[in-house]
Amino acid sequence: MNKRKILATSALPYANGSIHLGHLVEYIQTDIWIRFQKMRGHEVHYVCADDTHGTPVMLRAEQEGVTPKQLINRVWHEHKADFDGFHIGFDNYYTTDSPENQEFCEDIYRQLDARSLIAKRSVEQFYDPVKQMFLPDRYIKGQCPRCHAEDQYGDSCEACGATYSPTDLINPCSAVSGAKPERRASKHYFFKLSDPRCEAFLKHWVFESISSPCGTTPEIRSRLQPEAANKMKEWLSSGLADWDISRDAPYFGFPIPGTARKKFFYVWLDAPVGYFGSFKNYFKRQQHSQAEIDEFLRPGGKTEMVHFIGKDILYFHALFWPAMLEFAGYRTPTQIYAHGFLTINGQKMSKSRGTFITAESYLEQGLNPEWLRYYYAAKLNDSMEDIDLNFDDFVARVNSDLVGKYINIASRCSGFILQKFGGKLTGLISEENRKWFNQFLFCQLGEGDTFLGRHTSIANFYDRREYGKAVKEIMLAADVANQYVDRAKPWVLAKNSDHDRELHEVCSVALNMFRILTVYLKPVLPKLAREAEQFLGVEPLIWKDANSQNRLLPDDHQINDYTHLMTRIDTRQIEALINANKESLQRPVRPPQTEHCVTTMEKSAPVTAAATSAKDAGNENAAAAPTITIDDFGKIDLRVARIVNAEHIPGADKLLKLTLDIGSHPRIVFAGIRSAYDPEQLIGRLTIMVANLAPRKMKFGISEGMVLAAGDGSGPYLLSADAGAQPGMKVK
Ligand code: 2FM
Ligand code: ZN
Repeated sequence: MNKRKILATSALPYANGSIHLGHLVEYIQTDIWIRFQKMRGHEVHYVCADDTHGTPVMLRAEQEGVTPKQLINRVWHEHKADFDGFHIGFDNYYTTDSPENQEFCEDIYRQLDARSLIAKRSVEQFYDPVKQMFLPDRYIKGQCPRCHAEDQYGDSCEACGATYSPTDLINPCSAVSGAKPERRASKHYFFKLSDPRCEAFLKHWVFESISSPCGTTPEIRSRLQPEAANKMKEWLSSGLADWDISRDAPYFGFPIPGTARKKFFYVWLDAPVGYFGSFKNYFKRQQHSQAEIDEFLRPGGKTEMVHFIGKDILYFHALFWPAMLEFAGYRTPTQIYAHGFLTINGQKMSKSRGTFITAESYLEQGLNPEWLRYYYAAKLNDSMEDIDLNFDDFVARVNSDLVGKYINIASRCSGFILQKFGGKLTGLISEENRKWFNQFLFCQLGEGDTFLGRHTSIANFYDRREYGKAVKEIMLAADVANQYVDRAKPWVLAKNSDHDRELHEVCSVALNMFRILTVYLKPVLPKLAREAEQFLGVEPLIWKDANSQNRLLPDDHQINDYTHLMTRIDTRQIEALINANKESLQRPVRPPQTEHCVTTMEKSAPVTAAATSAKDAGNENAAAAPTITIDDFGKIDLRVARIVNAEHIPGADKLLKLTLDIGSHPRIVFAGIRSAYDPEQLIGRLTIMVANLAPRKMKFGISEGMVLAAGDGSGPYLLSADAGAQPGMKVK
């Protein structure tokens, strides 16, 4: 088998947030693949870094009273600790704010400019006159131009799903200072993706088949998964637009050469270049020569470059990135592996449900990271489908597969070897016991007599990122091992010394099976594998250890004392994990200035998404509303309502769907209170609703009124009625 030389990456996490279980899908997926390739004897370099530049980091640092560099330094340590905790074995974990990265970015820019692929054009954008900066879309909020919902981001409306440009918002305001933004023009730099050279290159690059490295199947593979290639087809056929790669000062990033620090590279330009920066930093530290670095970063070499990414950033990796590299004289990616998102218990991760779980809290609660690695492996495949972490299934699978099937073999057989045979295995195995061993090693292909070594089928699954299938095959092998032990009953053999020979053989064969299962599982369970190697008294296992002709350990091989290798998950640990994530998020925190439009938030905090008229109700600081007459007030039909049902709405981040009883027919109201309430807390309680508000059509259905809630940035706090009030009673 030829030795492959692979530079592999996972997407770089932003330096302004914590690593959570959603992120870990990708890092665990990549790490398994890399550990597997390394076990096969390939040369693999796994690099990553924090993605440090951009407006959010700049503003967050300012808010925390630190410099961006101080902030990214702190977050780097937090991320590194999380990744180490989950055994993500980066060869280098670096930062995009590095001299290597700056050098690559400047070189790429100059090369593109020299090939007339950089254009400069004036662009009109919103500008915050107080903060004196141009505002990215997510820092502008206002009223949706379609449904008029308040407090919507500059690019899309969460209430009705409309997409638009920030300049379409009604009453836009800066989420940074609250000021009314102005439209201002400034010169921007573009990578000319619309150039016919880029289009021609991408059309070829995307659909070109690449031959598989020796020793892998299938023989020919595509650069992108079929779903990703289809997406690319769509993008390419609708025509490529030039890509804006500059941002105006103030900006935390690399200055564009020749602009006197007035223009900076947009964070998405320098982020993927960060793969190169991290790789170069690593290779330089390893004393590699420039030629060795170039072998991975320049075209023409026999090396591979593979990127693991989420499906949401395919556009950047499969369009901009390869085109940029191609025309700047660098190598392009060999393969891009995109994965789907994580749902938890069938729903989007949610802070109010306690399922927005950080890596840190998982570890702090004492859950074993290898449980999660195993569960993700069991669910992952080579597609871009989302995967679900279902906690009941998680507990059942880990307990039954890992503890019940795999660990169980060692725990049932090690004691006899240690106590009765001085810890020595026998290599002299009868025909009958060998038959079982072969049944364990080979799987039958179809109905016939063709058998395939499991090490081959499992290796193919790992290589193709079909981890779910690999895990299934491994568990079939574990089933054979357990049937063997169950049938031989070593605990019965041990009662009569006449059976010592058979006892010795059965336990030796079973521990050999355990050893081979450890090889199969090692990419997924690296720490457990190390402990198993120590117990078995063997060198670090590599793939060949499951593959070599003589798969039995030699006669008289000495094992070490057995200590239990993995505990079962207790469902109470899961409950504690969810509660910890709920608790930590229930502290009344004012949303960060960077994420919310202050003035709009103050106005809109008290309301449901369906309503606008009570916006100022709970806000002492809001400007007083104009005086109204009692007749005006009388127009509002306020009623006591019982919440008979409350539920989450798939795809809605802010809303809950409430069913309200006001004595007449039940009313459906979509209320913007999801951040503060779990649906279960609400069912049965009394609140106040506006019963005569005109029904409003929203993305998720028709809202037939509004519930009242107070808030001034914290909350919202739903209004209640005292005991005795009945659904339908008028509020006067
Ligand atoms: O989407 C994200 O989280 C980005 N920080 C990923 C960057 S990947 C690469 F391009 F650097
Ligand atoms: Zn809308």
